[in-house]
Amino acid sequence: MAFFSRIVIHWKMTLFMFTITLIFSPSLSSASSTPKKFKKIYAFGDSYTDTGNTHSATGPSSFNYVSSPPYGRTFFHHPTNRYSDGRLVIDFVAESLSLPFLPPYRNPKADKTYGVNFAVAGSTAIRHRFFVRNNLTLNVTPQSLQTQLTWFNRFLESEGCKNSTTTPKQCEAVFSDALFWVGEIGANDYAYSFGSSVSPNTIQHLATTSLTGFLQVLLSKGAKYVVVQGLPPTGCLTLSMYLAPETDRDDMGCVGSVDKQSNLHNSIIQTKLDSFRKQFPQAVIIYADYWNAYSTVVKGANKYGFKELFKSCCGSGGGNYNFDVFNTCGSPSASSCSDPSQYINWDGVHLTEAMYKTMANLFLNGTFCKPPFSYLLAKKQ
Ligand SMILES: *[C@@H]1O[C@H](CO)[C@@H](O)[C@H](O)[C@H]1NC(C)=O
Ligand SMILES: *[C@@H]1O[C@H](CO)[C@@H](O)[C@H](O)[C@H]1NC(C)=O
Ligand SMILES: *[C@@H]1O[C@H](CO)[C@@H](O)[C@H](O)[C@H]1NC(C)=O
Repeated sequence: MAFFSRIVIHWKMTLFMFTITLIFSPSLSSASSTPKKFKKIYAFGDSYTDTGNTHSATGPSSFNYVSSPPYGRTFFHHPTNRYSDGRLVIDFVAESLSLPFLPPYRNPKADKTYGVNFAVAGSTAIRHRFFVRNNLTLNVTPQSLQTQLTWFNRFLESEGCKNSTTTPKQCEAVFSDALFWVGEIGANDYAYSFGSSVSPNTIQHLATTSLTGFLQVLLSKGAKYVVVQGLPPTGCLTLSMYLAPETDRDDMGCVGSVDKQSNLHNSIIQTKLDSFRKQFPQAVIIYADYWNAYSTVVKGANKYGFKELFKSCCGSGGGNYNFDVFNTCGSPSASSCSDPSQYINWDGVHLTEAMYKTMANLFLNGTFCKPPFSYLLAKKQ
């Protein structure tokens, strides 16, 4: 078990100690004739949604792989600090609303007219100090959802929105015409505490209450159009498959215990969203069912053009997983596959642009938003 934990800890370091070496400049998505329903997007989440906030206070380090090729190879043709070969779900959301890609909050030079991305890689739902107190951190990822809320509050202040009663005009400018996209969050909470003395039930309770507490604040401040993504089946990620015993599998061929945990987490969130719909009847609250969208693709991979369900496109070691915790994507001994669009998994933990695009399509055009995304668009005045 000690060795197992050591691997996990090393992986955490490998995965989350990164640096901004490029300033991401937003570019307009292709012109569209549809009128802009939403004028801006505010996004939150972790590395699945982060468009460049990930950052190491110590400057360039030996783990700044997300800033190295082949990250970004498919779409941007250079690394943009996104954990993929190209665009993320949030990028496809922006495109489909004819808005520019969201600039990261931490880029002070970015034009924030069309929204801001507060999501940061490695972020947890639970406050960072919980992990510190339980010796579950190497202090490389101090951000949580609470940090993102602090950043959002600072942003509100910078826009002159202090209080919707005392500064109504300024707050109106921030909140009306804004889509709030709360990306997948919580996977890191489970990952950081994996194999520790803190029980998964404790993590589940704290992670779900942290997320719902955060949503309560957003809704109370005036968020009207809110999409909340659930967790994907995290047992299908290459890292989970690589770490778990082969006996721990479900009907998708993924790690059963891990998938079950993320599914249960999602049920708790959905129940809470139901009560938010009653508490905030003026808001439109959508649940984006990542778990079932992803599972649908795993079960019908051919139909979606995927040939590799579990193997990382970018990594090293070959075999079933092409994954080695000590030589991950972007490190000198790793390389990427010739056609990433045939792979679901990009680097062992994060997905390929092809998979993010498929997920975005299933959320925005398909049946995996509850109620459907078209309902949100119709409700938007
Ligand atoms: C954390 O580690 C320190 C130093 O090794 C130890 O004294 C403390 O008891 C640990 N705390 C927990 C909650 O395990
Ligand atoms: C906003 O201002 C009003 C009036 O001054 C006050 O009653 C209310 O408590 C304030 N709200 C917050 C969230 O500070
Ligand atoms: C949704 O469908 C439209 C029309 O088929 C397509 O142009 C668009 O790319 C789709 N959106 C996503 C995110 O795939």
